Amino acid sequence: MLSVSNTDYFDLELTVNGTPVRRRIPTHLRLLDFLREELGLTGTKEVCGEGECGACTVLLDGLTVDACLIFAVETHGMEITTIEGLSRNGNLTPLQQAFIDHHSVQCGFCIPGMILSGEQMLRDHEQLTREEIRQDLSGNICRCTGYQKIVDAIESVSRDRR
Ligand code: FES
Ligand code: FES
Repeated sequence: MLSVSNTDYFDLELTVNGTPVRRRIPTHLRLLDFLREELGLTGTKEVCGEGECGACTVLLDGLTVDACLIFAVETHGMEITTIEGLSRNGNLTPLQQAFIDHHSVQCGFCIPGMILSGEQMLRDHEQLTREEIRQDLSGNICRCTGYQKIVDAIESVSRDRR
């Protein structure tokens, strides 16, 4: 049986969805597993586990990252936003509402990552064309929707801000 020495653990401190978190964790624990298994934030999904699909996208200090590619210890002192942290007091963000209004969800497995990528692109760009949206979503794969309605949702929020 594998034994793990004390030096393989780390006292992690970070902020997750606005809440300070402190946990002693194994140094080899992926951020994805920390969020899902330690914190119960299962909105962050795993599909490929190797940085190809974007299902595990979260915001790390405001930038999108693949949580399957990062060790949790690398996020020490940083701020993470998962899909559970977007709504405030039960109010969806305009983009979350747009995904509902445009029927952008089928199985839903890619959607947390799609929305977090969309939130970042809407924050970074005042206006977005469909081509820019498609390009920015290239790291997020959907096997169900054909992408049209996802692009429709993001474009509608960008357009409504004009
Ligand atoms: S599960 Fe992380 S990129 Fe696919
Ligand atoms: S809605 Fe099923 S993978 Fe995108």
